Amino acid sequence: TILILDFGSQYSHLITRRCREHNVYAELMPCTTLLRDVKFKPKGIILSGSPYSVYDKDSPHVDPAIFDLGVPILGICYGLQEMAWQLKGQVEKCDHREYGFAQIKMPQIGGDTAASVDALFEGLGDEMQVWMSHGDQLSKPPADFHVIGYTATAPYAALAHNSKPFYGIQFHPEVTHSPRGKEVIGRFILNICGCKTHWTMEEFIGKEIARIREICGPAGRVIGAVSGGVDSTVAAKLMHEAIGDRFHAIMVDNGVLRLNEAKQVHEMLNTNLGVNLSVVDASDLFLSRLEDIEDPEQKRKIIGNTFINVFEDEAAKIEASEESKGKGRVEWLLQGTLYPDVIESISFKGPSATIKTHHNVGGLLKDMKLKLIEPDEVRALGRLLGIPAPLVQRHPFPGPGLAIRILGPVNRSQVAILQQADSIYIEEIRKAGLYDQIAQAFAVLLPVRAVGVMGDARTYEQVIALRAVQSEDFMTADWYVFPPDVLRRISSRITNEVAGINRVTYDISSKPPATVEWL
Ligand code: XMP
Repeated sequence: TILILDFGSQYSHLITRRCREHNVYAELMPCTTLLRDVKFKPKGIILSGSPYSVYDKDSPHVDPAIFDLGVPILGICYGLQEMAWQLKGQVEKCDHREYGFAQIKMPQIGGDTAASVDALFEGLGDEMQVWMSHGDQLSKPPADFHVIGYTATAPYAALAHNSKPFYGIQFHPEVTHSPRGKEVIGRFILNICGCKTHWTMEEFIGKEIARIREICGPAGRVIGAVSGGVDSTVAAKLMHEAIGDRFHAIMVDNGVLRLNEAKQVHEMLNTNLGVNLSVVDASDLFLSRLEDIEDPEQKRKIIGNTFINVFEDEAAKIEASEESKGKGRVEWLLQGTLYPDVIESISFKGPSATIKTHHNVGGLLKDMKLKLIEPDEVRALGRLLGIPAPLVQRHPFPGPGLAIRILGPVNRSQVAILQQADSIYIEEIRKAGLYDQIAQAFAVLLPVRAVGVMGDARTYEQVIALRAVQSEDFMTADWYVFPPDVLRRISSRITNEVAGINRVTYDISSKPPATVEWL
């Protein structure tokens, strides 16, 4: 196992991901973790990047004991600076923050230097493209280190210790913008640390199940919310495999779900996957609170707060129910997904505010987090757990649901119109075999009315906008180019089948400057 100490970089989870791609298991832990609290003996340690500067008053630092453990250490970006800070080198602010591509030159070191010295870049040639993102850099390496790579602006872009297996690199090998970065990580974990390539998704499932069982003990019970999305479905299935009916999944119908969604989720999770699920119809409560609200942030807030209220009530009911008598207490709250927000991985800062609010649930519940894995790995995991392909490949759906796709006031009739239009849209995309080529597709209901004609009469009805994007990570996105006859069929079906709509438009904006959602 590789221990990755997380200083809060937005890329930290990608380091674990790259290790897994080499079939090496890596554990991401907060940077302030004390070595004595690490339950396993790591074969190597990687220090991540960070938004901090090593000299800031409140910047995080690593347990100095790691430098005496006798295992290889690789510092990435802040990790390099932290290593220099601890080992008495010097770090300074750059004149300009460096963000973007750079060419790193790796001079070949020959002669009688220790064989492992340039092992980090072995076989990678003497130059490569890398991704930089930093405001500080080394101005003086610590004693006993020498340069193994430099760029036009960073004379100490990569360092190695003269005799110990300590390495530091200023660039980010974990991002795909460093095309050979995965190989650099491979050199470190395979050649330098000597890790065995054991890790497989099957083994991950086995270990995660064992870990969940250990945390819960023989009687402990866990509750968690499911949405019908891939992440929470996979998480629920995994919990079910681990502790069966001692896991209680709760699905809250907030009145702004897609057409028949609550029913479908119930069928899938409960009937097909055997998960102990209660569906709570709270649509009246949500819709009454949303009435006449147009401001998107207010819609989000109302839905978020109402969700917590309903979820807490439901958790209390499960705890108090007849069938719960004699069973263990509900002690744990599963934090929804396998991919918590990046903010949660900065755990030395404590859990984020939104998570704290959940601590009220049913008294004092302890957090149960599943391991951080990437969205496409969640999909692979889902397939292995026997979750059907259409669900595993499902496009993401936002928490506030259709409420942020109805641009005017939200009410039952507007929701019904959008549900029908959206369902036709997705059905036709699936029929055309295009669903998996699109990252996200959905319909949006505009509050404006346009003129139309039906038979001899004029109509004055609402407009549906269709959105479909291709995107790697939703930070940027481009609109999807449909074959014209698919759009024609969708438009014709929506205007003919959905009462209240006489016009359909297709959104041809990219992100940026637009966003994926309309609100
Ligand atoms: P934007 O509109 O920001 O969307 O370009 C990027 C991705 O985020 C999703 N999204 C949300 N998800 N709550 C969510 O759970 C929200 O409030 C929210 N807003 C946007 C959006 O669907 C897309 O996948």
